[in-house]
Amino acid sequence: MAVITVKNLSHYYQDGDYRRYVLKEINYSFEKGKFYCILGQSGSGKTTFLSLIGAMDSVQSGTIEFEGKPYQKYDLNTIRRNLIGMVFQSYNLIPHMTALENVLVAMTITENEIPKDKVNVAYNLLDYLGITKTKADRLVTRLSGGEQQRVAIARALATNVDVILADEPTGNVDEDTAEDIVAIFKKLAHEHNKCVIAVTHSPQVAAEADIVLTLRKGNFIVNE
Ligand SMILES: Nc1ncnc2c1ncn2[C@@H]1O[C@H](COP(=O)(O)OP(=O)(O)OP(=O)(O)O)[C@@H](O)[C@H]1O
Ligand SMILES: [Mg+2]
Repeated sequence: MAVITVKNLSHYYQDGDYRRYVLKEINYSFEKGKFYCILGQSGSGKTTFLSLIGAMDSVQSGTIEFEGKPYQKYDLNTIRRNLIGMVFQSYNLIPHMTALENVLVAMTITENEIPKDKVNVAYNLLDYLGITKTKADRLVTRLSGGEQQRVAIARALATNVDVILADEPTGNVDEDTAEDIVAIFKKLAHEHNKCVIAVTHSPQVAAEADIVLTLRKGNFIVNE
């Protein structure tokens, strides 16, 4: 079943008097259990698209639905806190906190049900992603880039969401680490029934996806 459905989605940026359309009437449905990659030249609108489905930007025209309910009927904060997890190229962790604390913050902000023993749950989640307890108790700035990205993925998952969006998640890590992160995404999709959507410039990453969407001239070219 579709978890996110995009209907006639268009988006422009104002360029003086001119509306420059980056996305043009996109129609697409994303499902749980699949790992999607979005490719496209620099400036083709990948981040714009992800910001819209991640509710970081308001929809101008068309609709995005989460399990059939249009984003316009939600408070965008609710979508960000409770329905979708985001992972960024530069990790965006809170630098003066440990890995564990970064994950706990996400659990505190969400209105989703979180288990009572959330410290244990957070340690286990981090451990599942390859961050041992010793590392979980370290300031995130004292972790490697690849480790920080694992923490960011743990944080995205901590709220129990079904959808993970990632903007160039392997952009700052070496090839081996990129492979590990892609393996995590595949496992989340295939074994935990998450919908994972990652923007990437890497053909190696895209080769691992179930479905590749290439953004070109404001629309998707789909390769299954
Ligand atoms: N807030 C904004 N105001 C005006 N123009 C913008 C804004 N954000 C993005 N753009 C423009 O919209 C186009 C698409 O940008 P976007 O960031 O979505 O591209 P992208 O595909 O993610 O590129 P990259 O691969 O370089 O990250 C670009 O031409 C960009 O300059
Ligand atoms: Mg971008």
